[in-house]
Amino acid sequence: MGIKHAITNNASIGTNLKQAAQALQEGKLVGIPTETVYGLAANGFDPIAVAGIFEAKNRPSFNPLILHTNALERFEGWGLHLPEPMLALAQVFSPGALTYVVPQTSNLIPDLVTAGTNAVAIRIPNHPLTLALLEKLPFPVAAPSANKSGYVSPTTAAHVASQLGEEIAYILDGGACGVGVESTIVSFLNPEIELLRYGGVSLEAIEAIIGRVKLPNQGFVDNPVAPGQLAKHYATKVPLVQGIVSELINKFDASRVGVLAFKNVCAEVPIAQQLVLSPNGNLAEAAKGLFAAMRKLDEMDIDFILAEYFPNEGLGRAINDRLHRASIHA
Ligand code: TXA
Ligand code: MG
Repeated sequence: MGIKHAITNNASIGTNLKQAAQALQEGKLVGIPTETVYGLAANGFDPIAVAGIFEAKNRPSFNPLILHTNALERFEGWGLHLPEPMLALAQVFSPGALTYVVPQTSNLIPDLVTAGTNAVAIRIPNHPLTLALLEKLPFPVAAPSANKSGYVSPTTAAHVASQLGEEIAYILDGGACGVGVESTIVSFLNPEIELLRYGGVSLEAIEAIIGRVKLPNQGFVDNPVAPGQLAKHYATKVPLVQGIVSELINKFDASRVGVLAFKNVCAEVPIAQQLVLSPNGNLAEAAKGLFAAMRKLDEMDIDFILAEYFPNEGLGRAINDRLHRASIHA
C-alpha cells in the first residue's frame, strides 16, 4: 500500500498449507509448528535455502540440522539406510519427539545440513498441520528451533515472529506446542547406542525398548560431539541461576529476582515475579510451559532469574539440561 509501517515483525502468520508449501518450494524460510518446539524450515535438499537458515538464526555453520519429513520410508527412498535398533524405537516414537542420527549415505543431502560430517539427523514430527505440509513436499525440510542462535526455543507462533518475523516468508500457526522441549536425540553411528540430547521422549521410555544406552557427558564442553551440547544455549538475557531457591534467595535482593518454580512459590519474592510450572508436580506439564515461562521472566524488570532443580527423571532431565545450559554457571 506504499505505507512504510513501523511493525518490524512482519511475517504473515496463518494456517494456509498451500502458502507454506509454496514458500518452501521457492527456497524461502517457513516457521512450522511441531509437538516439541517451532522449527525454522527450509528445503533440506537446497543448499542455498539451508544457508538461509544459518543466516537468519546467526547459527554457526559447524552446527548440523535435523531433516524432517512425514514418514521414515521416505528417507529410505532418498538413500538413507535405517539401522535395525532405530526401527524398533521408531515403531513406538515416530511420529514423535525423537531424532535419530544415522550414517549419511544419501547424495541428495547438502554438506551444510550435516556440517560436513558422515552423519545425518532425521525426525518425523508429530503435529497434524506439519505432517500434512511435509506430505505435500517432494523433499524433507531442515529445521532447527526457530529462535536466534543461543536464545530460548519458541513454543508459539508469536515467539517465532518476535525473533525471526523479518526473515521468514510465512509462519504456520499450529497453536502452543504440546511437549515444549526439543526432541531427544539418539545416535546409531556406533554399535553402542548413544543419547546425545535429553528431550521430549524420556530416557526411561527409550531404555524400556532397547535397553541401556550411553548417556551424554555430564560436564558441558566447548567442543562437543553434538554441537547442540554447546554449554551456552537457551540463555535468557536476564542472567539465570539454577539451584535450591529457598537457599539461593539469601544471596539476592528478593525484590529484584524472578522465580521459575516447579510446584511452589517462594515466600520472600513478590508473587507477580514467580511462575509455577506445575502446581500438581507433573513434569510433562512443566516441560510444556518451560520456554514460555523463561521468555516471560526475561521480559520482567528483574536482575536475576532463579530456577529450581527439577526431579532428575522423565522429562525432568530435559528441563534440568535446558536450565543448566541457560544458567550463568554453565
Ligand atoms: O525438537 C526438535 O528437535 C526441534 C524441532 C524443530 O524439530 N529442532 C531442534 O533443532 O531442536 P536444533 O537445530 O535447534 O537442534 C538440533 C540439534 C543440534 O544440537 C545439532 O547439533 C544436533 O541436533 N544435530 C543435528 N544433526 C546432527 C548430527 N548429524 N550429528 C549430531 N548431532 C546433530
Ligand atoms: Mg535449537
